[in-house]
Formats: sequence, structure tokens, C-alpha cells
Amino acid sequence: MDRLIIEGGTSLRGAIRISGAKNAALPLLAATLLTEDRVRLSNLPHLHDITTMLELLACMGVEAEIDERLGVQVDNTRMHSHTAPYELVKTMRASVLVLGPMLARFGEARVSLPGGCAIGDRPVDQHLRGLEMMGAQVGIEDGYILAHSPGRLKGAHIPLEIVTVGGTENLLMAATLAEGQTIIENAAREPEIADLARCLVAMGAKIDGIGTHRLCIDGVDQLHGCDYQVMPDRIETGTYLVAAAATRGTVRLREADPSLLEAVIAKLREAGAEINEGEDHIELDMQGKRPNAVQVKTAPYPGFPTDMQAQFTALNAVAAGTGTITETIFENRLIQVGELNRMGAQIKLEGNTVIVSGVEKLSSATVMASDLRASASLVIAGLLASGSTIIDRIYHIDRGYECIEEKLQQLGARIRRIPA
Ligand code: UD1
Repeated sequence: MDRLIIEGGTSLRGAIRISGAKNAALPLLAATLLTEDRVRLSNLPHLHDITTMLELLACMGVEAEIDERLGVQVDNTRMHSHTAPYELVKTMRASVLVLGPMLARFGEARVSLPGGCAIGDRPVDQHLRGLEMMGAQVGIEDGYILAHSPGRLKGAHIPLEIVTVGGTENLLMAATLAEGQTIIENAAREPEIADLARCLVAMGAKIDGIGTHRLCIDGVDQLHGCDYQVMPDRIETGTYLVAAAATRGTVRLREADPSLLEAVIAKLREAGAEINEGEDHIELDMQGKRPNAVQVKTAPYPGFPTDMQAQFTALNAVAAGTGTITETIFENRLIQVGELNRMGAQIKLEGNTVIVSGVEKLSSATVMASDLRASASLVIAGLLASGSTIIDRIYHIDRGYECIEEKLQQLGARIRRIPA
């Protein structure tokens, strides 16, 4: 397995381009199943999870033509299977997003249950409950979700019992082809859901309330192809901003959308960063200062994103003062603590909160990546540590950060990949 080696101690300086958003691209790829026409998606990030989704579509007979300009044209006219197999779903939970589109268009779907993962149980009960409310018969057999709909799905009033991103996306996609009107209450408002909704509208769907807690979808008989550009990755943007702030650097991130990062930017300003927001870029300057510790509590959008808390733990580790990070979305998502402490951080875990007493410097160690965002916190810690940090199992990082070592090198970091 590949490893990353980081010689710490350099402030990040320079400019890089932000990639398309993984968490928008995955549901968008699933949405291509809603039409028999070709759909062309551009600005796709070059990531492991995207490859997994394309493999999943391929094993069902969907053809994807990838061009050199980060675009993919998806054609499912030769689709021959409605089964998403365990071997692929187990490696990426977002595979379950093919359930709603397949059921809505073909009246049947067989999708492996995603099972647990490093950051908690993560059930899909809300996805299944919503589909049942739309008239689907849903059962579990041999570890697979078997969903069936005699005729079209029926529009329904679906109050979600918890705010779920994937659940909202699955039901939104299914509702576009249902008969009549569907109202999803307590919908998640993450910008990636709005991106998906805008693409569905470009495919002919009728959706009201985009970006709100109440999505109202008038089902149509069929959707058509479209050309759609994936939004910028707000979590990648936030991660580089935090890395720059923690290393007392100054960066400019191009092709980003700062308007999607309000909660993160507010915390970085509190930490002492000077931030300039443009329409399609963002600049951060720490003016060489040590960051101040900040208090963070995760919440559904527009609250502070759970996908950014691990990076702020690394920032607090070297900040002036004591900061706390409270995770409210996932159980067991504070797994960065052990490895950061091995690098000299002073972090205590109390229930779903970490209490971080900032130290002047971290020290290098060999550490192991355990999940995507926890891994990002180890990279930031490596940039801060004196000496040479080795990060093992970086396939977690490759799932969500495009060319991380190249982008960091562009910002002056001393980082390289050692292939297995
Ligand atoms: C998505 C993101 C992930 C992010 C998360 C929260 C993608 C591909 N992934 O994950 O990066 O961290 O949103 O912003 O977009 N839950 C249930 N029942 C359900 C569904 C969810 O109990 O049917 C629980 C989960 O266990 C979790 C919480 O709800 O505790 C939030 O999960 P959800 O919003 O669904 O996250 P994902 O869509 O899996």
C-alpha cells in the first residue's frame, strides 16, 4: 500500500485549483440511471470513490466514456442488471444511492446493504422507509435490499425522522419519476443535494424548495439527458484552508465557492485568519501568526460540517489555548485523536467531545490513516511536525482528495508518495 512521507515545518504558500465535489459527483452519477439518454458530467474529481461508482455502474452494463477534460458521458442503453453487488457496495457506502433511481425507472433494484464502517453504524432505514411510503415493497434477503414496485412509484408525503444526506438524495431521485407529488420534509440542505436537484431539473424534473428543508417534487413520465458541471468541493477547500492556517501560511484557492463554507470560514476568522472571499476563489492569510484555539460543534448544513472536524482538531493541536470539538452527526468519528496524540498532541476524549490543549509543536511519527477525514488531519499534523512523518494506508485519503501530494507540493510542502 502507498504511503505518504511529509517533512514538516513549512508554511503553505501559493495557489491551487479546487476539484469537483466528490459528494456531489457520486449522487450525480447515480442520477444518470434515471434516463435512457446520455448524460454528460464535467468537473468530476479524479478519485477512488468515483472510480468505484463507475465500476458499480459498469458491472450493471452502464458504459462510461471518460474524456481528458474531467468529463464523463454515461450511457445505460445496454444496462443488463439491477444488482449492486456486495463486493463494491462494501467499499463505498454511497453505492446505495443507485437504489432510488433504479427502483423508480425499472421498478426493481437489488442493492447490497452497506453495513457498518469505521465511523459508525450508518443505517439506511430512512431511505427504505421513504421508498415504502412511495409504494415500494422492500425486503432484506441474504444481506441485500430487494426493492420492487408494481408500476410507477407513487408520490407521497415523507417526513424524514432524522436529517440524512444520502436518504434525502435517494428519495429525491426516486420521486422525480413517481406518479404525482412527493414532499420530503426535514430534508437535508447540504449544497451537494442542491447540486443534484439542479442537475435533475436540467434533466426535466420538477422540483421546488431546492436548498430548503422541504423538497416538493412533481413526478414526470421520463427524464432526458443533459450536460452538467459538478460543483466545487467545499470540504477539499476547507481542508486546504485549515492546512494553511495551521501552518501559518497564505493560500489562494481557485475554482472554489466560498459561499458554501460560511461556518468553516467563521471559525478560521476566529482562529485569526484573514480571509478574502471572491466569487470563484478564496484567499487565506495567517500573516505568520499562531492560530487561536476554536470551539467547534458539528451540525447538518448550514452548521459546521462533520467532514471538517478532524482537520480542526489538528489545527487546535498547535493553537494557542484550549479548543473543543464536539461531534453530533456520527458516533465513533473522533478516531483521529489516538494518532494525533502519538505525534505529541494533547487531546482528551470525553464522550463525543475532544478537548485539545494546544502545544507549540508536534513531533513526527509513523501513523495510520483510518478514515477519509481523519486521514486529512494526519496530513495536516505531518505538515506541522518537526521531522519526517510517514502516513500508512493512504487509500483512505485517495478516496476523497485529488492528487493531495501534488497540490501540497504546489503550496511548498515537502511531501511525497512512496508507492507500495
Ligand atoms: C454524507 C456524506 C458524508 C458526510 C455525511 C454527513 C456523501 C457521499 N457522504 O454521508 O461525507 O459526512 O453526509 O454530512 O455525501 N442515518 C440513519 N438512518 C438513515 C440514514 C442515516 O440513522 O437511513 C444516520 C447515520 O448513521 C448518521 C447520520 O444519520 O449518523 C447522518 O448520515 P447521512 O446524512 O445519511 O450521511 P451519508 O449520506 O452517509
